[in-house]
Amino acid sequence: MGSDALLCVDGVSMAYRARRGEIQALSSLSFAVARGEFVSVIGPSGCGKSTLLKIVAGLVRPSAGEAVLDGRPVTGPRADVGVVFQKPTLLPWKSVLENVLLPARALKLDMAAARKRAAALLDLVDLGKFANNYPGELSGGMQQRVGLARMLVHDPAFLLMDEPFAALDAMTRESLTLELQGIWLGSGKTVLFITHSIPEAVFLSDRVIMMSGRPGRVLKDVAIDLPRPRTLRTMGSAVFGDLCNTLRRDFMQNANHGNDTLPSRKSVGG
Ligand SMILES: Nc1ncnc2c1ncn2[C@@H]1O[C@H](COP(=O)(O)OP(=O)(O)OP(=O)(O)O)[C@@H](O)[C@H]1O
Ligand SMILES: [Mg+2]
Repeated sequence: MGSDALLCVDGVSMAYRARRGEIQALSSLSFAVARGEFVSVIGPSGCGKSTLLKIVAGLVRPSAGEAVLDGRPVTGPRADVGVVFQKPTLLPWKSVLENVLLPARALKLDMAAARKRAAALLDLVDLGKFANNYPGELSGGMQQRVGLARMLVHDPAFLLMDEPFAALDAMTRESLTLELQGIWLGSGKTVLFITHSIPEAVFLSDRVIMMSGRPGRVLKDVAIDLPRPRTLRTMGSAVFGDLCNTLRRDFMQNANHGNDTLPSRKSVGG
């Protein structure tokens, strides 16, 4: 990876101060993502995935270590990054179109061009007819799709996605997964994608990083050498099934390790 890395997460630890003492969310997490790569992160609930994403997005400062993006340490939100959060986080008093335009406004881009791009992106996520509606008039899944359009409106080189499809029905989820592969293929964009779904991670990714239970560390880093573009047929193939099964088995074995709410069990291996 070395010099080709767009993102380096280097020894990142995060302890939150909570009412009843500290919560150690991440522990010396290190990995790199190469320019143009699609990398997924999977891990049990509460292992620090969203914390990791917020640190890379520059919204949370780690207790130790740093994230370096394109050669510069991340110290705050950046123009070259697009983020979609686990919750849609739309402004309820602004229309769908205005919500999509938020990053363009914050970055003071040419608004005529941004409006065109926002309209095209709303079409892409099947919400062209809802541009002038308000978030409160949309379903959860529709709001999440507005978030996807907003992530792309300023054409960022680096996409950070936190379980973007979790609230969607299975059909929409499948079609947006294919859509995302299409957007990514040939765009040169780099993606860090967080998901609970092992098949989704395997389908989309060049690499899948598996995190331990809290405090989150890297347990496994698995290359997914399936040809592109991947199709629905890929999902039915034996090699796809084998990759999912192996990851699922590792996931089950490791899901509880490091989770301090359960009786402590020594983790196997390193
Ligand atoms: N602002 C905060 N203050 C205190 N503790 C927090 C805060 N945000 C997260 N935590 C704690 O840090 C740990 C990791 O949380 P995080 O949201 O990063 O997990 P996650 O892996 O994204 O979980 P999920 O898969 O359920 O989304 C949890 O134990 C959580 O309670
Ligand atoms: Mg999360």
